Amino acid sequence: MFARRASWDLSQNDLSRRLDARRAAGLPILDLTESNPTRCEFSSPARLLREALERLARDPNAERYLPDARGDPAARRAIAAYHGAQGGAPTPDHVLLTAGTSEAYAHLFRLLGDPADRVLVPSPSYPLFGFLAELEGLEAVPYMLRFRADSNEWRIDIDSLEAACDARTRAVVVVHPNNPTGGFMRTADLSRLRNLCARRELALVSDEVFADYALDAPSGEWPGTLLAGADAAGAPLTFVLSGVSKTLALPQLKLAWIVGAGPAPLRDEALARLEVIADTYLAVNGLGQLILPELLAGRAAVQAEILERVRRNRAHLRRALSARPGTTLLPADAGWCAIIRVRGTPGGPPPDEDALVAELLDGAGVLVQPGWFFDLSSNADEKSAHLVLSLLPAPDVFVAGVDAVCRICADAAR
Ligand SMILES: Cc1ncc(COP(=O)(O)O)c(C=O)c1O
Repeated sequence: MFARRASWDLSQNDLSRRLDARRAAGLPILDLTESNPTRCEFSSPARLLREALERLARDPNAERYLPDARGDPAARRAIAAYHGAQGGAPTPDHVLLTAGTSEAYAHLFRLLGDPADRVLVPSPSYPLFGFLAELEGLEAVPYMLRFRADSNEWRIDIDSLEAACDARTRAVVVVHPNNPTGGFMRTADLSRLRNLCARRELALVSDEVFADYALDAPSGEWPGTLLAGADAAGAPLTFVLSGVSKTLALPQLKLAWIVGAGPAPLRDEALARLEVIADTYLAVNGLGQLILPELLAGRAAVQAEILERVRRNRAHLRRALSARPGTTLLPADAGWCAIIRVRGTPGGPPPDEDALVAELLDGAGVLVQPGWFFDLSSNADEKSAHLVLSLLPAPDVFVAGVDAVCRICADAAR
């Protein structure tokens, strides 16, 4: 009855069964996986949105339907200026609006691949890539990011990436900074990756939804955006993705975009073809487009509030883990996530991530994600377990949850 692309296993996993049971029993949950900012007690995003909606209610353009397949010109001007401030140089003509970043991926996969073609995606990373590729008839093939204990950073394993390329490979996706590792791609890796993509005629797709959330002052080790240098001679066709779900913490607007860059004739042809794809759906809500310039102009307050929370929660977690031998907070450059590493006993197997997560939920009512959801252990350290936490929860929730996490992880590490 159903297509192969929709033949998923719909059965619940153990964690969601336990979660449902806990909810059904009316027991409390400290949710340290919460990454929906509208549930984390921030005030700036809602204030910004409310003010924009009040003005929109008086805007006569709100009553008209004026579709533009690439997106409202004023919204595209604001997006081009936003990326200009990050170090890129796009014009509004290089921008195309989409209904969320997932739609941006779908459009690009339709543009770049035929059924059974392949796109390379980072591992560990965002678990949606397999679904996004398969729904367009493509295959998502992982390449490895490795945590280097010597330099304490995540780096692309370019050799594994090159080994994963074949004649059906059409694009390489990078997440800059990556989620959940929080690592920006290093400049040295980018130049190798650009050469490889140009040589093999692969498009480079850079998901930069978390680019504004660097934890420390800019370092010369990575570019703020892959739009910087993307128009230089010899660079590959490049697409940068971003959207308001992270830049403005307003996921309910379902508003994102693609910026095209690279060799001008190829870039312009790609954008013209993307316009046909977008015109087929015209999925982007007109009202969101009208308020986007005002929202982007107000992003500083939103990002400051979120960064303050993320830094504070991270610092608390680092302090709490430092008193627990066998546990470590992995370093990150940016983003909304933290990764805890839990070492096994010397010579023994790593602690069981599912058992740790189940004990935290059943015993302490604390919800975290096991590292295997993101393929963490095989790339970070096979002898350890990993847990992934969101850094967005309100401090009282976070502190109470982390207390139990530290206790249970330290017991497992003994
Ligand atoms: C790397 C990455 N890209 C995109 C998204 C989702 O963006 P959107 O809400 O615009 O679809 C997420 C959500 O967590 C993400 O982690």
